[in-house]
Amino acid sequence: MERTYVMVKPDGVQRGLVGEVIGRLERKGLKLVGLKMIHLPRETAEKHYAPHKDRPFFPGLIRFITSGPVVAMVWEGPRAVGAVRAVMGATDPVTATPGTLRGDYGLDIGMNIVHGSDSVESAEREIAIFFQPGELVSYDKDLDRWVTEG
Ligand code: RTP
Ligand code: MG
Repeated sequence: MERTYVMVKPDGVQRGLVGEVIGRLERKGLKLVGLKMIHLPRETAEKHYAPHKDRPFFPGLIRFITSGPVVAMVWEGPRAVGAVRAVMGATDPVTATPGTLRGDYGLDIGMNIVHGSDSVESAEREIAIFFQPGELVSYDKDLDRWVTEG
């Protein structure tokens, strides 16, 4: 069982795509275990995107991600990291496969609607930035036995 960090970016919130993101992840079979809406302080944004701090797009990325509220979430399930990445699609929405969130809703590599952790290690690091352990819930969904045999 894995947990992954998902964030509807400011463009996704402004465009009314929060429900679309949550609905697709729910229908995929993943379980929502943490949720909050926040307007990221610069320091938190820089911490989250620290692995990209030397990239040329970093200042623009920080400006964008702090430009409006985001929806921060933790989703759980078997291979949840990869499952979310598949539902999101490739980083550049123009080349992202139609049927994915980015492929269906984006045109801009910066305004690409949603973030999802790229590995289990990243997920642990990112979840710790946005959630206290006590803010994540643990519960059973009866339907889970129809989602995975595991
Ligand atoms: P994310 O971290 O947001 O889930 O996206 P990702 O893994 O698909 O892409 P990543 O390489 O981690 O890049 C993080 C975010 O930086 C912006 N970006 N801009 N202008 C550019 O060339 C460029 N490259 C990346 C995107 O918003 C990307 O999601
Ligand atoms: Mg990334």
